[in-house]
Amino acid sequence: MSRYRILRKNKAIRALVRETRLHKDELIQPFFVVEGSAKKEIISSMPGIERYSVDTLLKEIEKFIKLGGNAGLLFGLPKAKDNLAKAAYDENGVVQKAIRQIKKHFPEFLIITDVCLCAYMKHGHCGVLDGDQIDNDKSLPLLAKMAVSHAAAGADIVAPSDMMDYRVAAIREALDENNFKDTALLSYAVKYASAYYGPFRDAADSAPSSGDRKTYQMDSANVREALKEARQDVCEGADMVMVKPALAYLDIIKVLRQDLDVPIVAYNVSGEYSMVKAAAQKKWIDERAIVLENLTAMKRAGADIIISYHTQDVLSWLK
Ligand code: PBG
Ligand code: ZN
Repeated sequence: MSRYRILRKNKAIRALVRETRLHKDELIQPFFVVEGSAKKEIISSMPGIERYSVDTLLKEIEKFIKLGGNAGLLFGLPKAKDNLAKAAYDENGVVQKAIRQIKKHFPEFLIITDVCLCAYMKHGHCGVLDGDQIDNDKSLPLLAKMAVSHAAAGADIVAPSDMMDYRVAAIREALDENNFKDTALLSYAVKYASAYYGPFRDAADSAPSSGDRKTYQMDSANVREALKEARQDVCEGADMVMVKPALAYLDIIKVLRQDLDVPIVAYNVSGEYSMVKAAAQKKWIDERAIVLENLTAMKRAGADIIISYHTQDVLSWLK
């Protein structure tokens, strides 16, 4: 028997015995980048998050670095969409331009890029469409070209989020062939078909114009499948694997952490962010306390790294 309250009796002792901590080095902030200049577009469903043109993005990143931020995940909104996602692998595409500028001004800043076709395709699906079916294998060369173009622009880590089979192998092979042997690969290995991506699809203008993503993203009821996906991506050459969304999938994070020995990344997605923001705006919850509790829960479940739209706020709170 023991008096467990002894180790809770004051702030210092609670800090001393705390098992899980948030650290700025493990947090990644997503950024949306649009064509043009002097742009700062409000995203109504994601208060506090904006779409930036490359010039204003540089200012945002400068602020973010001053807060202690090290890493950003880039999403692009192209000038034009077609059925081959041409802007996704154009060396003068919006993400490629943003990477070059960021690296020019902030060479130490870690750049991760989302590799997926949906925001660049007229139909809004993550792969090539043949009639109303996704053609998995025809999507692979496009994804590989996109990843190589990001690496060529200077991206440190490419992160495929499309959920096509074998894309990690295709991308790794293309990177190596093009001599980008040091470009890391973070796979969105375990990505569920989730309603929590709703606000993101407004932000990135990437909602499918017909159908849904259930033939490629995972069924939210499944856990064994998560292990299969993650193990296979590691075999194909993924350096890190992601679970997405995070909060409703903490059990999945835990299973992966126990079974794999690569870093596990949790993506605290747009819907999770927007729900907290909306309730906080109504003063129904204490935003700071809720955010810290949520992110700590992801780490406690086993996440090594967290991608979160709250990162910029969290950095200012951790200071
Ligand atoms: C693109 C992509 C999506 C997200 C990240 N990359 C949307 C989707 O798959 O529909 C979701 C991110 C978020 O909700 O914050 N495939
Ligand atoms: Zn996609």
